[in-house]
Amino acid sequence: MKKLVLPLSILAVTSFTACQNNNKPATPSTTQAAPSTVPDSVWKDHHTWSNYDQVVTQHLDLDLNVDFARKTIAGKAVLHLKKLKPTDSLVLDTRDLKIVKVTAGTDEHPLTWKLGSKNNYMGTALHIQLPEADTLVQVYYETTPGAVALQWLSPQQTAGKKHPFLYTQSEAIMARSWVPCQDGPGIRFTYNAKVTVPKGLMALMSAENPQQVSADGVYQFKMDQPIPAYLLALAVGDLSFKSLDNRTGVYADPVMIDKAAYELAETGKMVNEAEKLYGPYRWGRYDVLVLPPAFPLGGMENPKLTFATPTIIAGDRSLTNLIAHELAHNWSGNLVTNATWNDFWLNEGFTVYFERRISEAMFGADFVEMMWELSLQDLNKTIEGMKAEGHMADTHLKLDLKGRDPDEGLTDIAYEKGALFLRTIEVAVGREKFDAFVKAWFTENAFKPMVTEQFLVFLNDNLLHDDAQLAEKLKIKEWIYGEGIPDNYVKPNATRFAEVDKQAEAFMTRASRADQLKTTNWSTYEWLQFLRKLKKPLTITQMSGLDAAFKFTATGNSEIAMEWYLHVIAAHYTPGYTPLSHFLETVGRRKFLEPLYSAMVNDPQLKPMAKSIYAKARAGYHPLAQGTFDELVGK
Ligand code: BES
Ligand code: ZN
Repeated sequence: MKKLVLPLSILAVTSFTACQNNNKPATPSTTQAAPSTVPDSVWKDHHTWSNYDQVVTQHLDLDLNVDFARKTIAGKAVLHLKKLKPTDSLVLDTRDLKIVKVTAGTDEHPLTWKLGSKNNYMGTALHIQLPEADTLVQVYYETTPGAVALQWLSPQQTAGKKHPFLYTQSEAIMARSWVPCQDGPGIRFTYNAKVTVPKGLMALMSAENPQQVSADGVYQFKMDQPIPAYLLALAVGDLSFKSLDNRTGVYADPVMIDKAAYELAETGKMVNEAEKLYGPYRWGRYDVLVLPPAFPLGGMENPKLTFATPTIIAGDRSLTNLIAHELAHNWSGNLVTNATWNDFWLNEGFTVYFERRISEAMFGADFVEMMWELSLQDLNKTIEGMKAEGHMADTHLKLDLKGRDPDEGLTDIAYEKGALFLRTIEVAVGREKFDAFVKAWFTENAFKPMVTEQFLVFLNDNLLHDDAQLAEKLKIKEWIYGEGIPDNYVKPNATRFAEVDKQAEAFMTRASRADQLKTTNWSTYEWLQFLRKLKKPLTITQMSGLDAAFKFTATGNSEIAMEWYLHVIAAHYTPGYTPLSHFLETVGRRKFLEPLYSAMVNDPQLKPMAKSIYAKARAGYHPLAQGTFDELVGK
């Protein structure tokens, strides 16, 4: 691959617009005959089988029937195609799908098709012979019970315990396990869907949604803004809706809806703050769906309807920055989209930066400094881990995921190094200029796939203006193509942690007992810092002192619970074992499971406990989480 030509001043002469539905750069919009500084190869998406350079999907019609007894979705996907070049082939992504038949045109004349060989994470290419004249294709198909994008939950796994639940998680490349499609982030299409579910259950999608249960179990959906396949989403279950304001609302299990609505009451304000920063929210309604606890993620930015873990419901609105994050994706990611998974930081780095700006507007700067500080600690840990395993290339912002499952390479780096990079630019050029730049990035590139190299061009054109010295000072190239964190990063200034560190020190040196510590008005972040500062293992006496004073074992705050359980594990604090097992058996969020299982399996005395908890909990985890922990804990 040709390397990007720097210094940045050279970049100024070319500027690209990748047209919608097409990953290829358009002709440089300049009359100067400059060599292309963005090599063609960067647009290549190595994680789709599809021939998207020849033919692209513009619209998708789904007609699906959800069968809980058989754990399958069956129906048809109708693709409205546009040919970019004359071709008689259409290649779609599938993974563990049963293809029934493929037809074309309004008369549905049959087409010849065959499935390629299976690759473990890419799935299987569906090769369709497509006559020159045909641009409308129907694929009749059925999913299989092991589909990775789908989690079928028993009634026991829901809050109400009466009805089963189904939800999808399509990012990064799992949409293909429930919809045959061109499953690459650079291909966008609008969609409509008709979904039939058991009577009494509600169906929701990343589209215009119902607010009431339908009498016949049939739901119609419409998404008339083009989105990539990874934003296709569906959830089916016993759900009710509560409005928060004129454009925001929450869906949750009926037994949880009031708690969920209380927790998320500030969502509308967040949308307003986001708009003040970087321009209008362009997706109509913004609703949040609170999923059952098995959901393996914190949140997923499905357009119009963020999917969220119930572990953010702490009772005191203290963990709602996760909503700020998913909301921010409606600009970074859903409007301006990473063209390939190698450019994942364009989605997540921008989103974390934007999330912090929303949180700053909502909760104040000193609050957000604590988030920067805690995340920097996490980032450093991630980098140490990658160093130990010889994976330093994964610390580049621009990734090289060719030949790998993207799920492996999509780490903290994109999030936190990405956000820190943007913050570093912000501080160097000043907030006013930087905000204008970010706003232009979202506005001018809306509904387009972007690669990192286009970001560099855009950065130069709109902010650096060929100032080679500034580019040098910012260490742009090092941030994007280099390892670890460049030394010009902006250090967090979490002044509120000074007092926390003092209290932790006093406790560890036994200058103060737990009940003598000064912890009044501490937020979640102060508690997290406090728990992280306490050196492991604490003694049993220290543990019971802390537990008596602060009721950690009984906390309803999942973030604090996790940090506490790490102490429980390190100290072999047996009163914490039962709540720890319960936590692991109900919560499927990988961010929590990973550190807890790791800590246990690394302790010979606790490894058997990890194995027995996992044996019980495994069936309740998402296929993705099962994959991760089969390896870590052992089946
Ligand atoms: N888009 C991601 C989730 C994702 C990333 C799914 C990569 C599959 C592959 C989502 O926006 C996200 O980042 N969620 C975070 C929460 C956040 C507050 C950092 C999570 O789930 O932990
Ligand atoms: Zn995200």
